Amino acid sequence: MGYALKETKYRYRAWTKDGVWQEGELTEDKYIKIHEGSNVFHYGQAIFEGLKAYKHKDGKVYLFRPDLNYKRINNGLERIVAPQMDAEIFYEGIEEVVRANVDDIPEYGKQQSLYIRPFVIGQGMNLGVKPSKEYLYSVFCAPVGTYFKGGLSALDFITTKYDRAASRGMGQVKFAGNYGASLYPRKLAKDKGYAGVIYLDPQTHTKIDEVGAANFFGITHDNVLVTPKSPTILSSITKRSILYLAEHRLGMKVEERECFIDNIDEFKEAGACGTAAVITPIKSITHNGEKHQFGDGKVGPTVKKLYDLLVGIYYGDIESPEGWLKEVKL
Ligand code: PLP
Ligand code: COI
Repeated sequence: MGYALKETKYRYRAWTKDGVWQEGELTEDKYIKIHEGSNVFHYGQAIFEGLKAYKHKDGKVYLFRPDLNYKRINNGLERIVAPQMDAEIFYEGIEEVVRANVDDIPEYGKQQSLYIRPFVIGQGMNLGVKPSKEYLYSVFCAPVGTYFKGGLSALDFITTKYDRAASRGMGQVKFAGNYGASLYPRKLAKDKGYAGVIYLDPQTHTKIDEVGAANFFGITHDNVLVTPKSPTILSSITKRSILYLAEHRLGMKVEERECFIDNIDEFKEAGACGTAAVITPIKSITHNGEKHQFGDGKVGPTVKKLYDLLVGIYYGDIESPEGWLKEVKL
């Protein structure tokens, strides 16, 4: 089953009627019956989100910055020409699913969490290339452990000649097609024994864009945390959190700017960050047949500090910045 540890019993579904979102409900049915002519099957009208619920020591359950997922799903809906969603429906879907599957929320201290997958698809008979008339918003969840094998160990990555998103395409939103485009380069990297792919900017292929389904960051020799500024990457909520924590908790200088692959030596440490990836240290990047290793190839001290801070906040062991955690009342 890969990243998921098991399937859970309940999921949430809300449909539009005449293009307006209706209140949804929980169901045990994991199959969705929709018309064969639905846009999701032919024209890729689909977006998703990913967030996690964490159980704290006191047994309470919290979501991490779900307001940012809410904003991002609406950006995605606009880009796929689907109706905007009210906060009530977005949160109801997530919170109902967390509550209904409460027995599957991993216990505090196990380094596990409940991964929540909201998604929207265009549905209903439609042969011409135009937006669907009707949509489904659904949420399911699964208890998960670490995304990359090996927990907090440094992994090897390789650049690819392929792009996950076009230079003026849909890289900024969590559009399903970006992930479809990533499967082949991922397979090529895996076949060669790498943990995953580093995407370069689609326009010039000279700058680091992203790490598969995570953002990239590097620590320079003078301790500046740098992360790519690019119009083709997904703006990671984890990345935005790390920028804040590095600056305000670790007193580091931070920069969002271009990261040229030919200048990769400027970094002594590097990592991939995302909801699923958390912070995954990068041991090396192979580009044009040359392998660049960061530091001694072990988990670097700054990456480790950031990991401990972030994970401490996830699980309530370290005080969170104001407004980052939203409790789900069980
Ligand atoms: N980049 C891509 C392409 C992703 O799919 C993800 C996962 O959501 C991320 C980055 C990390 O984003 P976030 O930290 O919001 O999960
Ligand atoms: C996430 O981090 O939430 C992702 O979407 C990554 C992946 C599982 C697609």
